[in-house]
Order: sequence, then C-alpha cells, then structure tokens
Amino acid sequence: MTTTEERPTAAGASTGRAFPPGFVWGTATAAYQVEGAAAEDGRTPSIWDTYSHTPGKVSGGDTGDVADDHYHRFREDIAIMKRLGLASYRFSVAWPRITPQVSADSLGPVNEAGLRFYSVLVDELLAAGIEPAVTLYHWDLPQALEDAGGWTSRATAERFAEYAEVVAGALGDRVRTFITLNEPWCSAYLGYASGVHAPGRTEPAAALAAVHHLNLAHGLGAAAVRRAAPTARVALTLNLAWVRTEGTADADHDAVRRVDGLQNRVFLDPVLRGSYPADVLADTAAVSDWSFVHEGDLQLIHQPLDVLGVNYYSPTVVRAWDGSGPRAEADGHGASTHSPWVGSHHLIEFPELPGHRTAMGWSVDARGMTELLLRVHRENPGLELVVTENGAAYEDVVVAGQVHDLERTGYLRDHLAAVLDAVEAGAPVTGYYLWSFLDNFEWGYGFSKRFGIVHVDYATQQRTVKDSALWYAGVVAGNALPAPTA
Ligand code: FCB
Repeated sequence: MTTTEERPTAAGASTGRAFPPGFVWGTATAAYQVEGAAAEDGRTPSIWDTYSHTPGKVSGGDTGDVADDHYHRFREDIAIMKRLGLASYRFSVAWPRITPQVSADSLGPVNEAGLRFYSVLVDELLAAGIEPAVTLYHWDLPQALEDAGGWTSRATAERFAEYAEVVAGALGDRVRTFITLNEPWCSAYLGYASGVHAPGRTEPAAALAAVHHLNLAHGLGAAAVRRAAPTARVALTLNLAWVRTEGTADADHDAVRRVDGLQNRVFLDPVLRGSYPADVLADTAAVSDWSFVHEGDLQLIHQPLDVLGVNYYSPTVVRAWDGSGPRAEADGHGASTHSPWVGSHHLIEFPELPGHRTAMGWSVDARGMTELLLRVHRENPGLELVVTENGAAYEDVVVAGQVHDLERTGYLRDHLAAVLDAVEAGAPVTGYYLWSFLDNFEWGYGFSKRFGIVHVDYATQQRTVKDSALWYAGVVAGNALPAPTA
C-alpha cells in the first residue's frame, strides 16, 4: 500500500494510464444501508430490521431506520453523482417494499408505492445521464420468509424469482443490467453459520442449504429477468477470495483448497458449469448430505450469465491448523465461536498479516484484485467481468467542510492500477463500482465504519464530498489513472 501526498487532480489520458474506451465508472450502495424510511409507503420488516433491533447484534445499537435518508434525498445524491461525472449507479431494490405481504406460499400483491420509488429513481438517474445497475437482493430478505425458513427453504428461491420478474418487468424498459444476488457467501455463511449477519442463525447445515437455495434463486431469478426484460443483461455478484498460503506443507495447500471451495467454487461451479465441486461435498459430508439438491436443480442454476460481478476488498491468507493453541481468525469476518467455514473450521486458521490495514482491520493487498480477475478470466474465457465493489473504510474527519482522506485515495489508486493490470493482461473487465457512494450502515458495524467517498453527518444528513471523490472524478473524467507525481 502506498499513500499519496497528491492533492486531488484531474487525470488526463495523455499523461496517465488509460482505461479502455467505454469503461463504465460507477459507485454503489445497497437499500438497507442507505435508504431509511423503514416503515414508509407500505414497506414491511426485513431480516436486517429484526436483527438490528435485537439488542447486542449491531455495534452502537444502530439500525437502518433512517440511515442516509436516501429514500427522501436521492435527488440531492444524484446531483452529487452528476457533479462528479459518474457514469453509473449500482443500487439495490428492497424486496419488502415491492411485495410486503409475501409468504412462503405466495408473493402477495405488488406494492405500487414501493415500485414507484425505484421507477422515479431510475428516471432521475437517466435524466442526469447516469446508468442504473440494479441489484435485486442485497441481503434484506422479507422477515415473513425468514419465519418460514429463510434461505434454508426452497420456497424462498421460488418467491425470489417471482419478485425478480416483477421488478424486471417494471424497470426493464430503462435498466440495462440486473444483478440477481449480492455476495451469497455472506447471506449463507454469515447469516446462517457464524451468525454475525441477519438472521443470525448458527447452524452449519442450514448454511449449506442456504448456499444451494441462493444458487437456485440466482438461476430461477436469471430466467425470470429474461422473461420480463429480454434485452437486459443478467449478472451475479460474488465476493470471490484470492486465497493463498505462506505455508509449504500439504496441509497448508489443502487449507487453500478448502477455503477456495467454500468461498469461490461452490458458487462459480454450479452457475458457470452446472455442477457442485466434489471436494466441497466431501469436505462438508459430516455436516450435511446435500439432499436439498433436487434432480434438475443444477440445470436451473446453470443459466447463461452476461456479466460476473466481482467484489474485492482484501486478501485471504490461510494455513493449516493442528488444533493446538488459539486459532488465528484474521479472516475479516469477526472472531466467533461459530465459524463461517462449514466443515473445515477445525483444520484451518487465518494468520494476521503484517502491514497496512483499513479501519475494518482488513489487510490491504491490491495484487489480489489482479490475480482474482485473471483467474476468473482464465477459467471462463469470454465471460465479461465488472468490479461491482471495491473500496475502503477509514476514520474520516470533516475539517472546515473538507475530508482529506488520503489513505482512501491511495487505496483506490492502487486497486484501480491492479484492475488495469488485469485488463492489460487480457481480462475483459468493463466497469468498476466504488463502494461506496455514501458513508452508510455497515451491517454489524452500524455507522461506525465509513466507506463513502461522500461523508454523511448522521445528525444533520449533511453530505460532504471527500477528497477521494474529487480524485475519483478526475480518473473518471480522463478515463485514466493520473501519472504518478514525482
Ligand atoms: C460487502 C457488501 C457491502 C458492504 C461492503 C463493505 O461485503 O456487499 O454491502 O458492506 O462489503
């Protein structure tokens, strides 16, 4: 990680490293993290409302009840995006706004007021010259579906597809890209195994059922989007890990294989190849027999994919654990007596890495971005890739109406250079979405971690454009990274 002494400057294609023409520069948020208006216009609770209102679950007792009040302030927010010259905005649709009465058996009536919010948002973005990219599920499952089993139940995947069809039908005339799911790894393992995300369950077998039903939701949802919006592009966003070890023993390499299986291949293989990795089924056999996979499911999951969204923040370094001494758990997902690493917890540990970390405690290594994109490209030649999230939390302060977040700018510069390295080595990466546009509700960390390039004062809802946003605007304007200053 390098830090920069530069002030934000406009990049120029003539002086810096140019991105390919037409590269899409965006920024991202998610509904529960920014919208607020939790009980407005017919919205019913999601699992994150329930979880955040459960004492002790979220740092500071924070909830998304108000968050950034983006539900009411989206016009002001779009105006800032426009001033920064951003080409695209990735946001998510809150399922509980669209079909608030959904149950395991039926989608229930469509809530026109909920749909209208997103329709107006899309219109305002297009009027500002900003392309909307819509995530259909960014973790806010209607609570009624969780009460009926949540992602452990097949009905959730079926209802998701029906909901996806409604949204794509309403917005598909104006939205070019629909992302079915965001990071099903988190929904499944953090939601159902380690319990550090909603719904906070700690049942390893349930997490595996959730993995499968999320994959199924993607497949059924992809087909549903195509029915409703035949010209739209269908994407899936995964938080893939760049997994490596510094160990040399066979057991260390086996630890890499196990983590790669649970985090990467258990999603990539069914979606892109129509099969589950045999080694993952074997590694988890003592936990579950995977009998929730029905005949024909893998064909349903294996739908054509127009774009794979890749989220990358931090490297994953693993080694074998022999059970002696305390287990190192620097995997960025919180030490918990309940592990997200179903079936492999007793064999692996995550050593702390030296060097720079963000305010999340996440290690920084931009090389992982290049390696990850190139690996996915090597294994899936011809598959279009978009970085749907990348960014960093730091402890920002507003001083005289400015935020001098030089560390964030340094992080972004290094990671954009890493994306460009992958592009130059042949990976067809066509866009980059910076996480996040606004400081927001960072799940279990509440408002204590700031990822935005725009600062939010939660008491007044005042927005302050950070220096990193101005630097990013320069990159966007020039479609290039600025040349390093001497
Ligand atoms: C990702 C999530 C996103 C945000 C970032 C920091 O895992 O998709 O909502 O929390 O991490």
